[in-house]
Amino acid sequence: MVAPDNPQEETPYLDALMQYAARDPARLHVPGHKGGDGADPGLLEAIGEQALRLDIPALIHGIDTGVSPTPFERAQQLAAEAWGARRAWYLINGASQGNLAAALTLAHYGDAVVVQRNVHSSTIDGLVLSGLRPTFVSPELDPELGIAHCLAPEALDYALTQSPGAVGAWVLSPTYFGAVAAVADLVAVAHSHRVPLVVDEAWGAHLAFHPSLPEHALAAGADLVISSTHKIVGSLTQSALLQLGGEADSGLDADVVDRAVTLVESTSPNALLCASLDAARRYAASRGYALVDETMRALARAREAIRAIAGLDVLDERFVGRPGVAGYDPLRLAVDVRGIAINGYELASLLREIDDINLELYAQNVVVAVFGMGERALPEAQRFVEALRVAVERVGPVAPGEQGGFAPPPPWGELVMTPRDAYLGPQEIVSVEQAVGRIAAESLATYPPGIPNVLPGERLTPETLAYIQHTLALGGSVRGASDRELHTVRVVAEAAAAAVSPLAVDPTVDR
Ligand SMILES: Cc1ncc(COP(=O)(O)O)c(C=O)c1O
Repeated sequence: MVAPDNPQEETPYLDALMQYAARDPARLHVPGHKGGDGADPGLLEAIGEQALRLDIPALIHGIDTGVSPTPFERAQQLAAEAWGARRAWYLINGASQGNLAAALTLAHYGDAVVVQRNVHSSTIDGLVLSGLRPTFVSPELDPELGIAHCLAPEALDYALTQSPGAVGAWVLSPTYFGAVAAVADLVAVAHSHRVPLVVDEAWGAHLAFHPSLPEHALAAGADLVISSTHKIVGSLTQSALLQLGGEADSGLDADVVDRAVTLVESTSPNALLCASLDAARRYAASRGYALVDETMRALARAREAIRAIAGLDVLDERFVGRPGVAGYDPLRLAVDVRGIAINGYELASLLREIDDINLELYAQNVVVAVFGMGERALPEAQRFVEALRVAVERVGPVAPGEQGGFAPPPPWGELVMTPRDAYLGPQEIVSVEQAVGRIAAESLATYPPGIPNVLPGERLTPETLAYIQHTLALGGSVRGASDRELHTVRVVAEAAAAAVSPLAVDPTVDR
């Protein structure tokens, strides 16, 4: 085969898998379905023979072993080049794995870190796993919308000044609602304190491919970037990337990141997931501009149509410039539903009933539809708008004087132990009523968006427990809880914990 002129047009790993499958090799290796022959006929029918043929394990000559760079190495190199990283790692356990690996990376350099408080629950899992002592810093809270935006550079500067032992700073951008941080300014602040900046850019893999989108984190100088490639760029669910930025002679060591990734990955990475990363990278790098452009135009029209429906509004570029919002990602369609007679949970269920519309996120006052970079956004957006119109006609506007404000989650409880000590130390299960005032031994994150309301090590407040119960009653769920209905909570057995090790009290910053 003649190699294309532009290396970004290549898919070396996908091609190597296809070639292996096509030559009908003797598969004297796992998986036991043997490329389909040994599979249940129902599975074969459901996912097709070719998917099973391509389900090829690791350590196959000519795919990921043999002459270096192997197709697998080359594919990761191309991913690094496409996003402008020093090195890229394929992840097969989502951006969640990236967050775990980032925590284990930082833990090589010391034991303290400054972390934005509204990070995803997998970042907190990373703190538990690594034992890093977090100093949390509050994002900007929007008093009007009642949601958390990004971290202001001044807040990061203050937190790092208060935490001279920190070995890194960890922020989130974009948020679930599409707010993008001033990443270049956060990088400058982190570097002025001589620490690397880790950015959980799970929602922003597409930002690299269109100049009208906010600058993506690697281009802004971030040192380690976690990217949930499956979310918007369109690789298969559970595939993601961890990318190392910065200069080779400063910041984080690639070998350290590599061993951290290895620690939290299966020894049997799924070939279909990896191939989908290779293909999604090619699609984004070669056609991303046109695809994003078309999607943005379709969504701009949809926003206009939604704003014209009485009682509905959208979150859009009008909120850029508010504290913690340096930019806005237009590939999210977040609808403010406070002006209609039902809440977001009820609307989500009505939309399912009207036209099988299934949303990414729905909360009391806002519902969010997500659009992929390459999908046919216009018909999907029109279908959504039409269903919204029907729903609003059915339920009507909110009664005068009854429009609720955005109800923000209550303030976070005081952090009095490291997440790891609380998670792994002596603990007991108590009723939710008895849990008030106790130290949580688990995270409680209402989902979506999966931002912990409670972290292991924080004191449980009656307001937060009531908020989570209210969310559950409305149809939400809670990640991290041992009792998913929250009748009971796992808490630290304080007397026993004090006997094992004195409580490590972590002052929190600006909460
Ligand atoms: C900000 C953020 N980080 C990380 C994750 C985890 O991503 P994944 O589901 O790919 O593991 C999510 C998932 O929603 C997220 O929103």
